[in-house]
Amino acid sequence: MADRIDVLYSEEELDKRIRELGDEISRDYAGKEITLICILKGASFFACELAKHISVPVYIDFMQVSSYGNETESSGVVKIVQDLDDPIRGKNVIVVEDIIDSGRTMHYLFQILRTRGPESLKLCSLLNKPDRRVTEVEIDYTGFDIPDKFVVGYGLDYAQRYRNLPYIGVVTLEED
Ligand code: IMP
Ligand code: MG
Repeated sequence: MADRIDVLYSEEELDKRIRELGDEISRDYAGKEITLICILKGASFFACELAKHISVPVYIDFMQVSSYGNETESSGVVKIVQDLDDPIRGKNVIVVEDIIDSGRTMHYLFQILRTRGPESLKLCSLLNKPDRRVTEVEIDYTGFDIPDKFVVGYGLDYAQRYRNLPYIGVVTLEED
């Protein structure tokens, strides 16, 4: 049976908010160059749209991390599955993530990235679930704060499905 998906943010709402974030980042980094680190796979849709709305020079790199843990709970120990192509020493880096849940993954990743000597290091996340936070994470640019619900679409998956939905939806799993 198909899972039920209720729209939380439509494509238009996402587009509008991402434009606003792009404008804000462009203002904050006026006269500078940005290195966007897109966290694969979830943030890929968001990072591409965001990059299109940033008016200062942007360099894009990719990183894939996997968090040891079970299906629903990350452990906080992050394995780098795919590392960046280039060093970030002296760069103005913005990590682009799909969602901050417990905060463990980004907390750990930021510890690693800080040791690489970027000029600045900030976090931009499309979604944030503040109610779920276990580890403190400072999010510099947030798309939307959302309730403690499991969401899919716009890059976010449930068991690798639904990433291609053009909206963010709350998924209700149907029993077989
Ligand atoms: P954290 O370490 O608990 O903050 O884990 C964040 C990661 O968990 C995100 O990058 C997502 O891959 C995944 N995640 C957390 N909540 C959701 C959700 O509602 N839908 C899809 N993936 C989620
Ligand atoms: Mg992720």
